[in-house]
Amino acid sequence: MEVKRISANDTYQIRQMMLRQGKPITSCHFDSDEDEQTFHLGAFTDGKLVSVASFFFKNNNSFEIENQYQLRGMATLENFQRKGLSRELLNVAFPVIKQNFCDLLWCNARIEARPFYETVGFKAVGEVFEIEGVGPHILMQKEIS
Ligand SMILES: CC(C)(COP(=O)(O)OP(=O)(O)OC[C@H]1O[C@@H](n2cnc3c(N)ncnc32)[C@H](O)[C@@H]1OP(=O)(O)O)[C@@H](O)C(=O)NCCC(=O)NCCS
Repeated sequence: MEVKRISANDTYQIRQMMLRQGKPITSCHFDSDEDEQTFHLGAFTDGKLVSVASFFFKNNNSFEIENQYQLRGMATLENFQRKGLSRELLNVAFPVIKQNFCDLLWCNARIEARPFYETVGFKAVGEVFEIEGVGPHILMQKEIS
């Protein structure tokens, strides 16, 4: 397994399959995908891209920490789940976020993904809320030391 920087374009197919099933590929294009401070990571198994995650320089007002990153589009193809790939993507991302002078990573986690985020050190904040057309979510955060 190898973790590499990938382009926004590389993420769209896995985002669509795992996060936007039945929706057009354009629904997988996120605002700020192409921003300078945004970065995208991919995990490759036998040369095939199987897991993706994207990191956006974006603050959430719920947190007082000055500089924050948002995690979005975290997804691993079904046959490759529970092999530690997402955890590995995050382990590569944390020092990059720190190098960018940010101390906090947050995400709007799908309820089903909450146990995963807890395993990698995120904590839930506040109440469950609905993102229309996607389902129930909870805000989660991890301070990066
Ligand atoms: C959530 C998701 C990204 C996790 O990816 P993954 O590559 O399977 O995660 P990892 O293998 O790195 O998991 C690390 C640890 O997290 C925990 N974990 C992962 N998925 C879990 C689950 N569904 N339920 C409970 N714990 C889970 C486990 O402790 C796991 O370690 P273990 O397998 O040794 O027990 C993946 O399940 C996925 O793509 N889901 C569909 C899309 C999605 O919901 N994305 C999140 C949007 S907010």
